[in-house]
Amino acid sequence: MKLRLKIWRQKNAEAKGAFASYDLDGVSPDMSFLEMLDLLNSRLVSESKEPVAFDHDCREGICGSCGMYINGYPHGPVPGLTTCHLSMRYFRDGETITIEPWRAKPFPVIRDLIVDRSAMDKIQVAGGFISVTAGAAPEANSNLVRKHSSDLAFDSAICIGCGACVAACKNASAMLFVSARVSQYALLPQGRPEAKERVRAMVEEMDRQGFGNCSNTGACEAQCPKQIRLFNIARLNREYYKSY
Ligand code: SF4
Ligand code: FES
Repeated sequence: MKLRLKIWRQKNAEAKGAFASYDLDGVSPDMSFLEMLDLLNSRLVSESKEPVAFDHDCREGICGSCGMYINGYPHGPVPGLTTCHLSMRYFRDGETITIEPWRAKPFPVIRDLIVDRSAMDKIQVAGGFISVTAGAAPEANSNLVRKHSSDLAFDSAICIGCGACVAACKNASAMLFVSARVSQYALLPQGRPEAKERVRAMVEEMDRQGFGNCSNTGACEAQCPKQIRLFNIARLNREYYKSY
């Protein structure tokens, strides 16, 4: 495949960025999107040009670091996939692909496609844990949890903190992320003793970091690579009201 790539290039947070165009041939439909960027970078390096900086770690859809807009969609146009799981077979030979970093005030650009997502880590540190003694594995097994609740808790716990929900939202809201974290604990008996303190601390930190309110458009759910559901936000709101 031969592609034209329009990629946001920006030296650092203070520098003014701009799109640069690159023609890349030899792309296999079997490559992942990140492998396609690797190919571009090896060409740029061989031409003594600066490679494109992008974030990645696991390349298995787990770490949440590989987020970027691809043709305007966070993580690309295919639902339920992270950028590292996105295959080049979803693109056409000769296509122009536009690639940008997350655009949200709480996520300043560090370089090219890399943004600083530490604002989400701060929300996690504020309350995304349990500090009660939960016991060893046998005690967990004797602590009965309804199947429905454990399934919902697990579905929330698979949030990878990638920030696509924030990037998709016109208010840069982090409520889908926070609601997944709050739900993961609120649904289990081990999470209940600290439920009030947790939800207040996480919501306060979310506001302090500059994330906006829920826009009720559902863009976050549509773009979440782990398909975290909107009803978690309703649970977040209920937990918050109950905490006062
Ligand atoms: S809710 Fe979805 S989009 Fe938001 S951080 Fe978690 S995995 Fe990423
Ligand atoms: S590189 Fe870890 S989720 Fe994509």
